[in-house]
Amino acid sequence: MDWALFNFDGIMFLLRWGHFIFGIAWIGMLWYFNFVQGPFFAKAEAATKTEATKGLVPRALFYFRYGAMGTLITGLAIIGMKFGQAGSAGSALFNSSWSATILTGAIMGLVMWFNVWFVIWPRQKRIIASANGEKVENLPAMARRAFLASRTNTLLSVPLLFFMGAASHLTIRVEEGKVGLWLGIVAVIVGLIEANALLADKGPTTKPIEKVSGVIHYGLLLALVFYALSEVVLHH
Ligand code: HEM
Repeated sequence: MDWALFNFDGIMFLLRWGHFIFGIAWIGMLWYFNFVQGPFFAKAEAATKTEATKGLVPRALFYFRYGAMGTLITGLAIIGMKFGQAGSAGSALFNSSWSATILTGAIMGLVMWFNVWFVIWPRQKRIIASANGEKVENLPAMARRAFLASRTNTLLSVPLLFFMGAASHLTIRVEEGKVGLWLGIVAVIVGLIEANALLADKGPTTKPIEKVSGVIHYGLLLALVFYALSEVVLHH
């Protein structure tokens, strides 16, 4: 049958479609938490906050964490299928602008997925339990760490989307053998940003991500820095 969806490219397209849907659910919720709910909670009365934490937050967190899971799975599936299709030309594919950009976004996405499932969600579960009347130790420290991980994800979401979009729509010149080096540099920078969040207030600084305006401006700046650095490392 010569219908566009019923072949390899069609399946890849369906995976991409699923990927955007999950990605929008995830990042939409992330931005909602950071840009809408957080500033509202900061000023809301205690009773309003408890009510919302019991009824609204668990629903938002459901779409948030399964959005993250679906985005990662579909994203990795696209990468796997593309390399599978390339076969013995896999090394040429790895040394391409597509790989350099998509794997940059994937490193950021992987760290963000980790933050959702292993930093934010376990702590949010305790925060919800506390709103439901359970006695929970160390609540402020727990909330603070979840906040910093969530802000770090918001910061990384801006360069992540730059590199996701760049993969098929912006071609960066890549010299043979430079992609591995570039991805190593990305992993180190993203690792340092993540370590700063995980160390909570013991890291170098949380200043750029404390405020909504800060996280947006620094997110844009980070995207530009990563882009300029990629041009330098990949072909100079
Ligand atoms: C979690 C790790 C992620 C991985 C491994 C991943 C992987 C991928 C891959 C392989 C593509 C296909 C690129 C192409 O067709 O050339 C893609 C595209 C895309 N991804 Fe992701 N992605 C991740 C996270 C995200 C997130 C969080 C979002 C947020 C919405 C997102 C949004 C997009 C968009 C909009 C495209 C379409 C780009 C285009 O073709 O125009 N991705 N991603």
